[in-house]
Amino acid sequence: MPAPDNCPPPISSSIILVGLMGCGKTTVGKELSKVMGLPLLDMDTVIEEQIGKSISDIFRDEGEAHFRALETALLQYLQGSPDKNLPAVISTGGGAVVRPENRKLLHRLGFVVWLDVNTHTLVSRTCRSSNRPLLKVEDRVGVINRLQEERASMYAEVAHLRIESAQMEISDIVHRVMAEAKAFFSVS
Ligand code: S3P
Repeated sequence: MPAPDNCPPPISSSIILVGLMGCGKTTVGKELSKVMGLPLLDMDTVIEEQIGKSISDIFRDEGEAHFRALETALLQYLQGSPDKNLPAVISTGGGAVVRPENRKLLHRLGFVVWLDVNTHTLVSRTCRSSNRPLLKVEDRVGVINRLQEERASMYAEVAHLRIESAQMEISDIVHRVMAEAKAFFSVS
């Protein structure tokens, strides 16, 4: 079935994982990359390597807006040179969906999967994390709740598939993603 005009085909058969901090993007991404034989591209790691600084240090020294611009630049680069880097399993940072232009870029890169996990699970999974600048606050539950409220509609907008994955085994998530991706790419 040809894609409608207002819905251009994806530029690669990449799998892109989106969702809040602690939703499992990195863990699921690693497993997907292994099972599918695709490289894993972790956006935070690529940015840290390019800039030569941790995400925390970028937030501290240049601020969040600068980090968001780095995310956009990386997505633009991937879109501009797909042959060098794609297809891949792309694990995004939780806030990569915040800029509208990023949502367009992400949606075009491939099959976008939102790992939707409840606040309680996110809080328990991130409680020991010391490398997430947005969670270096007293009220982590409040911050995670606020981010859930602010970003849910953004994840919904960008994703081709939403999985409520809090109670699922990693292997079940991986199989579900692979099955749905296969169906998606066979018609796009
Ligand atoms: C952020 C999530 C982080 C990282 C940065 C900002 C966010 O990535 O990009 O700390 O705004 O939600 P993870 O979702 O991989 O923790």
